Amino acid sequence: MPETLHLAATSDGIAQAAALLRAGGLVAMPTETVYGLAADARDDRAVARIYAAKNRPAFNPLIVHLPDLASAERIARLSPEARALAASFWPGPLTMVLPLRPDAGLSPLVTAGLDTVAIRLPAHLVARDLLRAAGIPLAAPSANPSGRVSPTRAEHVLAGLSGRIEAVLDGGACAVGVESTILGLDGPPALLRPGGVPVEAIEAVLGAPLALPGDPTLPKAPGQLASHYAPEARLRLNATEARAGEVLVGFGPVAGALTLSAQGDLLEAAANLFHLLREADALAGPGGAIAFAPVPETGLGLAINDRLRRAAAPRP
Ligand code: TXA
Ligand code: MG
Repeated sequence: MPETLHLAATSDGIAQAAALLRAGGLVAMPTETVYGLAADARDDRAVARIYAAKNRPAFNPLIVHLPDLASAERIARLSPEARALAASFWPGPLTMVLPLRPDAGLSPLVTAGLDTVAIRLPAHLVARDLLRAAGIPLAAPSANPSGRVSPTRAEHVLAGLSGRIEAVLDGGACAVGVESTILGLDGPPALLRPGGVPVEAIEAVLGAPLALPGDPTLPKAPGQLASHYAPEARLRLNATEARAGEVLVGFGPVAGALTLSAQGDLLEAAANLFHLLREADALAGPGGAIAFAPVPETGLGLAINDRLRRAAAPRP
């Protein structure tokens, strides 16, 4: 990849960033919390590239950044509580996890196969201009290599990701400096991650206390969610051929009824993974079984194998 562009937040720079994003590129964008590593949330390959650039060893669901409430309503179902919170805190450092509309058109890699989606309307003026110019939903985790601190300046982004992404759009230092507050709103309102909007301010709008992390009635912490799409069918890993009654999903030289990537390309395999889990499940039918060809434990292979091991693990 050519050198990462350092774009000024001028109308030209924003137009260039928007064009790169529409073409499937990765662009780090300023938000009021931290810089986000943005890609077209509808494009499997672009989203797979986010995980590759960050070297993430697992597919955590990503936050979808949008310009306005109307686009949020097209992607998710907002309860009256969610609308009240949106009226008070959007645009701003609040992320809401909401039921995903089936026709939202997002890559399943964005939600890690969940039927909920995390949405945020950033307040940073450059982020808002970029979202409007691009005209597409932008999936964006913090723009740092996995395991490193979140970047609050364009220079931090370049220090971690230079040469791995198309561009960084320089909007100066981030005002808030900590990530957004994440609320689960697919059930009783629950705090999933403390952040830029104080819990007290949220409780004042809701008129009730939030459920807090550790509450036994809540789902597990984000990223550890047991509810990631789990196929109905039994799953066998490291298979080189199909046994009777199995749907084999190939990779590289192992051909199957379906394949993650005939070329053995890990980026293509990641982009296909969640679609193929569902497709193989449908083909296997009730009581059926799926076998997956071995995937190398390098690069995106780590995240792919992590996901497959979880899917293959014995269920409670
Ligand atoms: O301030 C922020 O939120 C920044 C800027 C760039 O917007 N973004 C950010 O993204 O911090 P990230 O990927 O570092 O953290 C996103 C968190 C993860 O912990 C993820 O598990 C959770 O959001 N998340 C995303 N979708 C979810 C879902 N459907 N259910 C539960 N948790 C979800
Ligand atoms: Mg992060």
